Amino acid sequence: MHTREIKIFVQEFDNLAELPEKDQQLILSAREVSKDAYAPYSKFHVGAAVLLENGELILGNNQENADFTDGLCAERVALFYAHAKFPGVPVRSLAVTACNSHGLLEQPTQPCGSCRQVMVETEVRFNQPIRIILDGKKHIHVIEGADSLLPMAFKPKALGS
Ligand code: THU
Repeated sequence: MHTREIKIFVQEFDNLAELPEKDQQLILSAREVSKDAYAPYSKFHVGAAVLLENGELILGNNQENADFTDGLCAERVALFYAHAKFPGVPVRSLAVTACNSHGLLEQPTQPCGSCRQVMVETEVRFNQPIRIILDGKKHIHVIEGADSLLPMAFKPKALGS
């Protein structure tokens, strides 16, 4: 037996102005669309902004339901809509932000496991890593590729076809 160490890479920024202009714009778009989230149950408003390789910007926010399990996260709303509208176009970057009753989260927003899995699928589908930008008041994290968000992910090749 031996222990394998798996490293992940996270770039940490202390404020919005430190980021490249394109990332700043993406975060601001995510913050804006988070205001339109339908989150009457959790009151946790999430916004996601997807920048595609063709320059298109696709926005999404969380959509809840009285039957709680029927809702969908902002990231998946945005990614699925992007794939529906532009099926052959890779995703360049994705910004995620969230607000609770105190406003923008202090620490970077952490996408749920299912959203991470969908990000992995998108990367495999287009054979290209996504620049993932996680917004927070104190720090903003940038992760180049979902492998750092979901190490040892379940990938299509495991299916053997
Ligand atoms: N939510 C997201 O939109 N994205 C995530 O990655 C985590 C959670 C939403 C789902 C639900 O509407 C609310 O936040 C509380 O879990």
